[in-house]
Amino acid sequence: MIKEFTTPLSNKKVFLGPDTGKDVIILATETSCDETACAIVKNGREVLSNIVATQIKTHKQFGGVVPEVAAREHLEAINLVIDEAISQAGISPDAIDAIASTAGPGLVGALLVGFNAAKALSLAYDKPFIAVNHLNGHVCANYLDTDLKPPFVCLLVSGGHTQIIKVDSYEKQEILGETIDDAIGEAYDKVARLMGLEYPGGPNLDKLAQIGDKNKFKLPEAKVGEHDFSFSGLKTAMLRLIQSLEKEGELPKEDIAASFQEAVSKVLLKKTLRIAEKYGIKTVALAGGVAANSEIRRKFFELEEHGYKVYAPNMKYCTDNAAMIASSAYFLSNISADLDKEVFSRQ
Ligand code: KG4
Ligand code: ZN
Repeated sequence: MIKEFTTPLSNKKVFLGPDTGKDVIILATETSCDETACAIVKNGREVLSNIVATQIKTHKQFGGVVPEVAAREHLEAINLVIDEAISQAGISPDAIDAIASTAGPGLVGALLVGFNAAKALSLAYDKPFIAVNHLNGHVCANYLDTDLKPPFVCLLVSGGHTQIIKVDSYEKQEILGETIDDAIGEAYDKVARLMGLEYPGGPNLDKLAQIGDKNKFKLPEAKVGEHDFSFSGLKTAMLRLIQSLEKEGELPKEDIAASFQEAVSKVLLKKTLRIAEKYGIKTVALAGGVAANSEIRRKFFELEEHGYKVYAPNMKYCTDNAAMIASSAYFLSNISADLDKEVFSRQ
């Protein structure tokens, strides 16, 4: 696959994609939520630099991400993060073939910072500008430092999305299942808050779950379409369980966390496997922030004992980063190249 792009100032032709037969270096920015990120990636897989400035400390005091504050912090960090990415990659900006950035979905004020910084770089260095879909970026995190090739089935689990995607080729992907209400990361964060855990709830709940009894509490599984998910009923069940235990005067947080983690990891595995079996695909991949979860990874990697090949991004590429955005731009997954492109909040 090769696509033709033009540079914004001199209108020179630039050919990008995995079949160009030459090395392609892409610089990307990503500021869709609470991480200010810039990375430089060669041929969609080799990470030359990957800089992430996290805002966790700032948002902790509010118990969640405050969009206005996030945008302001991105503004303060973006130039430093870009300079550091270029310096750590050890290349001159001339060696970069294209500039990419996340267009959405995400927080509009936050997105605008990284998106406009990338547009400015595109103009300053006269390189094509590529707008990337954040969700495709998460899927492409699986190409970083690996030899993974489509077809594969990808379970995308993040703060805003829960999808099962059939990746037929680098450019062609189909969403076959998704949540009809809460995203899994959102459910993790809400349940963590009910239990009084600090932001970010997901990783803190995961830590507790690892020392709890996963069979202590039986939790319901939602009855939805065979490929879809629903987590709002589970969330309500968690609220009732926590309230009734609090009334009794004891809150075994580890066991509650482990039981919740068992319920969600079981259903995520079951439905992903159902699609893999239906289409006879023996490669499965995890993507998104929740792909960092210890029990979800454990259950998925167990599939290797049953003839599956399993991929999950390195922890640093599960949560938001710009290397995955550069990879998505390289593999031309759901991208558009145009300086007139705008950011968007929802898919
Ligand atoms: O992909 P991501 O960084 O941002 C979005 O695009 O949404 O995902 C963030 C989500 C948050 O909900 C966070 O709590 C969750 O990923 N998360 C985890 C873990 N690490 C991050 N959830 C469960 N277990 C983890 N270890
Ligand atoms: Zn994300």
